[in-house]
Amino acid sequence: MAQDQAKRAAAEAALEYVEEDAVVGVGTGSTVDWFIDALADMRNRIRGAVSSSEKSTERLRSHGIDVLDLNSTGRLPLYVDGADEANRFLQLIKGGGGALTREKIVASASDRFVCVADEGKLVDVLGAFPLPVEVIPMARSTVARELVRLGGRPELREGFTTDNGNLILDVYGLSITEPLKLEQSLNNIPGVVTNGIFALRPADLLLLGGESGVRRLT
Ligand code: 5RP
Repeated sequence: MAQDQAKRAAAEAALEYVEEDAVVGVGTGSTVDWFIDALADMRNRIRGAVSSSEKSTERLRSHGIDVLDLNSTGRLPLYVDGADEANRFLQLIKGGGGALTREKIVASASDRFVCVADEGKLVDVLGAFPLPVEVIPMARSTVARELVRLGGRPELREGFTTDNGNLILDVYGLSITEPLKLEQSLNNIPGVVTNGIFALRPADLLLLGGESGVRRLT
């Protein structure tokens, strides 16, 4: 099965967790694009969506789905998003699309986080995928030096500005054996807005598309 079809199968399987009349939290990425397209068929049965990026907002609106402000919705019953890597504890690396900060905010405001991905995203140890870290521009160098001290090789994502007006450092060479600890340490570096480890708020359910259908991990 092609990777894209695996992503699509996982994304469409997430539809069954969407409740009638609810506001749905929506992530970012090519897998989520499939989810948004599928959600369009339900647009008259949901109140709307809270979006994690300008890109997803545009796609939601193009389908006629209302995009609501998180400040006006309160907690959400469901957040659906993809991942760059996931382990068996449903801890994730996210931010390949650069939307990690808003993704983490919406995930933390949601009662259930359903992560949708192709099965190639499941790994034993997080870190082969370079870890995205969103950084305030003036702190780029100081944060980069601290990341080197922690054993990583940060590289500036060239020509990229986040929806929040910040930069992304992609950190290579980390073997993330203690995701919770590293997520907290990185959060403590002045100038770091967010890092792409989702361990403090992992997924609650992982839907993995592959050759034999969609696997559910909890
Ligand atoms: C964006 C993300 C995406 O969820 C992640 O990059 C996975 O993307 P895709 O579904 O295209 O494989 O974290 O910031």
